[in-house]
Amino acid sequence: MQDFNPINKHADSIAVRAGQHRGPEREHAEALYLTSSFVFETAEQAADAFGGDSVDENIYSRFTNPTVKIFQERLAALEGGEACIATASGMSAVQTLCLSTLKAGDHLLAAKGMFGSTTNLFLKFLPRWGISVDLVALSDVDAWRAAVRPETKLLFVETPTNPLMETADIRALATVAHDAGALLAVDNCFCTPVLQRPLALGADVIVHSATKYLDGQGRCVGGALVGSKALMDGEVMGYLRTCGPTMSAFNAWVFLKGLETLPLRMRAHCESALSLAQWLQTRTEVTAVHYPGLDTHPQHALAMLQQSAGGGMVSLELKGGKAAAWELIDRVQMLSRTGNLGDAKTTITHPASTTHARISAEQRAEAGITDGLVRISVGLEDVRDIQADLAQALGDQNSI
Ligand SMILES: Cc1ncc(COP(=O)(O)O)c(C=O)c1O
Repeated sequence: MQDFNPINKHADSIAVRAGQHRGPEREHAEALYLTSSFVFETAEQAADAFGGDSVDENIYSRFTNPTVKIFQERLAALEGGEACIATASGMSAVQTLCLSTLKAGDHLLAAKGMFGSTTNLFLKFLPRWGISVDLVALSDVDAWRAAVRPETKLLFVETPTNPLMETADIRALATVAHDAGALLAVDNCFCTPVLQRPLALGADVIVHSATKYLDGQGRCVGGALVGSKALMDGEVMGYLRTCGPTMSAFNAWVFLKGLETLPLRMRAHCESALSLAQWLQTRTEVTAVHYPGLDTHPQHALAMLQQSAGGGMVSLELKGGKAAAWELIDRVQMLSRTGNLGDAKTTITHPASTTHARISAEQRAEAGITDGLVRISVGLEDVRDIQADLAQALGDQNSI
């Protein structure tokens, strides 16, 4: 049976079909290989597989599994990358990237505004392994250039950032990184390849939390790295094979089902998020709305150059600080009070006391995360119902 060739195909087709190599059973849906290891005909065949460097040989599911492989090929094709390595979580993707590309004495440059655990990994753990880290204002390209040192090997950004939706100039930072002989890694979690393809803008590695939009229905935790074949099949695979931050085959299968609807879902998330952001701007309780698709966003023009739409995430600042933020969150009736994002269900959270609670107050202030900030991951419910729930939570009468 003919395998699907992603060359010159569109994202909607790649999301549904890339990576599947149909087996002798002629299955239509992707097969789920729940097996820890694979069997050899002879001792010699086993020795050849274990001794070789081929990433195509099925040996042991810590580093080779056919279902995980379909997920890897599909995500690589969507991102326009040569290869992908799937990991157990988004954080294990970040950790795998750092520990497979950096060594003691190296220097990492990252942005001040990032997901809290990423900041913690960089500031608390990497220095224990002799890797030094500096944080720079995301949008200040000159500051990145000034902070580069001869030992700088990796630049790391999220764009848009969690939770403030700041935008990094990927092309400019790629130039800074490459002039220094370093790699640029971009966490593409908020946009997904449907809205933004950082490799085409010059980035070297994409980081994903598959837990978010790639799954899309809040079921499994996973992550991935996408980049050149040399890097992924070389150092990154070597690290994965030895250290084992592996994606389970079951989770890969669930993510494959998620990828099939990713382009459709992202379009719906974006449409509702823009409409909700515009409505939030009209509310007197709200002092700021952070959404790259609004022309009031400080980097709106850059965001619209890099992204095909604003995304599904909206943050707002409330006049009444933490008390008002918590009151809003406590009063919603339909929205889910949970820290996850990228789900079909709209979620609402208070970053300062949840997703960014474990970084210091100083680091939160540096990243611009105030006590009055609320983050909404706009789901796939009818946006009129999302808006009505928020309106009643803000105190409107008869809004539901
Ligand atoms: C932007 C971003 N990157 C990475 C992660 C980490 O992903 P995971 O929770 O799958 O480890 C998250 C989690 O919220 C995130 O928002």
